[in-house]
Amino acid sequence: MRVTEIPLARVKDALTRRYREREDKQLLAWHHQPRIIFKKARGVRLWDVDGREYLDFVSGHINLLLGHNHPELVQALTEQASKLWTHYKYYTTDTTIEFSELLAESLPQGLDVLNFTTTGSEANEVAMRLARGATGRFDFVSVIQGLHGGTFAVEGLTSIGGPRKRGLGPMLMPARANAVLAPYCYRCPINLRFPSCNIACLDVSDEMIERTTTGEVAAIFAETIMGSGGMVVPPEGWLSKLKRLAEKWGALLVLDEVQVSPAKTGSLWCFQQFGAQPDILTLGKAVGGGMSIGAAITSVEISDQAKATGCGIPWGSTFVGEALDAAVAKRQLEILVRDGYAQKAAQLGNYFIKRLGELKERYEVVGDVRGRGMYVGVEIVSDKSTKARNAPLMQRIRYNAIDNGLLVGGSGNVLKIFPALIITEAELDEGVSILEKAIGLALDGHPQGVERFSEGSHP
Ligand SMILES: Cc1ncc(COP(=O)(O)O)c(C=O)c1O
Repeated sequence: MRVTEIPLARVKDALTRRYREREDKQLLAWHHQPRIIFKKARGVRLWDVDGREYLDFVSGHINLLLGHNHPELVQALTEQASKLWTHYKYYTTDTTIEFSELLAESLPQGLDVLNFTTTGSEANEVAMRLARGATGRFDFVSVIQGLHGGTFAVEGLTSIGGPRKRGLGPMLMPARANAVLAPYCYRCPINLRFPSCNIACLDVSDEMIERTTTGEVAAIFAETIMGSGGMVVPPEGWLSKLKRLAEKWGALLVLDEVQVSPAKTGSLWCFQQFGAQPDILTLGKAVGGGMSIGAAITSVEISDQAKATGCGIPWGSTFVGEALDAAVAKRQLEILVRDGYAQKAAQLGNYFIKRLGELKERYEVVGDVRGRGMYVGVEIVSDKSTKARNAPLMQRIRYNAIDNGLLVGGSGNVLKIFPALIITEAELDEGVSILEKAIGLALDGHPQGVERFSEGSHP
């Protein structure tokens, strides 16, 4: 069923309409309302085919850190494009090796060996192969509300239900348990309060692991900060307790930092703020600087064990480790470190969260503002006392923001905001003003006549 199309409030949209009609004829794709057909971008701004401008608070698809078309990345891309784009994957390239070295150097000891992939889903599948190989076990445990990708094995680890899983039946991986309660202090799953709770959610999770697995757990998967499940920042001590839980079960801890690393949350690697190191780290999205790169990274010991057991390690595929992608990713990582972008993200985050906190003070429907650095969620509720989730209102706010030139994301009742690290405080202020206008419009019932705000398998 198609969503009701309504014209955008701003200026003419003749070309957008024409492209939409063409798209509808053959392109299977997710759509959020209002539908936009982008044409060009620069820095933190995008323009659509009708010339409308958008301030980009979602940084591409959460996969840019230095904004669109950063001049130094364009230079790296064009230099590499004139030398070598692609190659037969039974060999490698100088640029691919140089990027892998830089990545390993920037990580703490114990995360020394990496298997490149093309996506975050594939990185998590490689992590499963590594864990299966290194432990000899089959069971995988993950966090309820977590997301680890959309290929079938990691869709099994994902516990966001609804349209994305519908109809897949037994195609999802059976040997898994979404058994760890989310560290969602705003809505504590066991109705306790931090810190007096002593992170009891993980004691309950321990029991759930006992009851739902064979007791032979290969790995526990978690996002360091949960993205799609609601931008959930774990409380202090949660990650180290999760690590102890994994150790208790003889399982490896896999941290999925596909959405949150590098630099975005205020440290180069997000787990560095939370007091525990994973046995396997998975990356995707922004690590490629907009190019399609993911990685599963682990210790020499784990990789040697996995290689010895024949679980398909090392893993490769046609587009893995492309020189063109590696050239951009390498230059981006150099810039992030050279210019101290992790610290900049932390400073910008403090400012931004304070500004969004003012909206929380002013509006009863802004229930919670949380995040780290340039990775922030705003939870929309009917009122602060009941905390009733108000997903339709969130969708209206998101819609109105976009209609007024601010691109923000959202799922469920949580607005998701991840500006590029090159953004200025003035641009953050500009975004906050548009967001405030969008909240006001939504409270007045705008937009009228839209029943569904998204289309496709992704809510
Ligand atoms: C935490 C997390 N892991 C894995 C993935 C999957 O990455 P990809 O879409 O590149 O396969 C995503 C995608 O949004 C994600 O948010």
